[in-house]
Amino acid sequence: MSKKCIWLVIFFFVVVSGMVGISAVEGGEKAQKVDDEILIQNKYEKDKGYEKSLLTHKKHAEEYKNDKGETIACADCHHVYKTGVNVWKKGDKVDKCVTCHSGTKNLSPSKAKKLKKEEQVKELAWAYHENCYNCHKAVKAVNKKANAPKSCAKCHKKIKKKK
Ligand code: HEC
Ligand code: HEC
Ligand code: HEC
Ligand code: HEC
Repeated sequence: MSKKCIWLVIFFFVVVSGMVGISAVEGGEKAQKVDDEILIQNKYEKDKGYEKSLLTHKKHAEEYKNDKGETIACADCHHVYKTGVNVWKKGDKVDKCVTCHSGTKNLSPSKAKKLKKEEQVKELAWAYHENCYNCHKAVKAVNKKANAPKSCAKCHKKIKKKK
């Protein structure tokens, strides 16, 4: 290779790596990160004696299909309601569910079912169950073989008590 050629190669390398670097910084500042798999935190975990539930976030958002055979939308799980309409769209900030579903009654989902609508919706475990469970139920109804669990033990194991 001639000297001129080598300088050209170096020049391009510097320019291209510079551009990649800048775009990575821009993306990094805007995009909110999320792990491919999330262990869902719940403040009542210790009281109720269940281990954290696992959500395969990436698979849910990119691979799995809903009951209509469509890819699941971010907005099926993330929302900001304005006068009853979900105005959240992809790219908007995602707040933790507990930010809004911050009920303090510390109830199991089955007990939360007995609350008044306005109080029920505030309970965190209820919000999770309603979201996870309703979709799994709908998916199972059209495809019995789908691995969208409805049984308690498939989503959370009991914490083993020390004897
Ligand atoms: C099946 C439901 C579901 C789908 C679909 C889904 N998410 Fe999530 N996502 C969650 C849950 C649950 C959390 C954890 C929230 C918490 O900890 O309270 C989460 C967390 C996040 C977080 C991290 C928030 C934080 O704690 O900082 C981001 C960002 C996010 N999701 C973006 C997306 C985007 C973008 C899509 C679509 C490509 C998407 N999600 C699809 C359920 C879902
Ligand atoms: C910015 C506040 C906010 C955040 C964050 C939020 N919610 Fe909600 N959520 C609401 C409000 C307000 C309602 C009641 C809407 C109505 O009156 O119908 C609601 C309703 C619900 C409902 C019942 C109606 C429906 O949309 O199906 C479920 C289930 C639910 N939320 C689950 C979740 C889950 C799971 C998360 C986290 C991934 C979450 N929410 C995050 C505010 C929020
Ligand atoms: C909008 C629909 C939808 C919602 C909401 C949803 N799921 Fe799922 N889930 C699915 C589908 C579809 C499958 C996979 C079915 C298959 O592959 O056969 C699945 C599979 C699973 C599995 C088994 C496979 C795996 O990836 O681990 C678990 C566990 C699970 N979901 C947990 C959850 C939890 C926890 C939530 C609530 C935070 C949730 N899901 C919310 C549709 C949904
Ligand atoms: C599709 C997944 C899924 C299924 C099926 C499911 N749960 Fe849950 N459950 C969750 C998630 C997610 C939470 C909130 C985060 C956590 O506690 O791990 C939760 C929370 C709870 C809580 C609140 C206590 C705590 O751990 O903070 C109780 C109690 C509970 N579930 C009982 C049940 C029972 C009983 C069944 C069976 C009838 C069941 N769940 C089925 C996903 C599921």
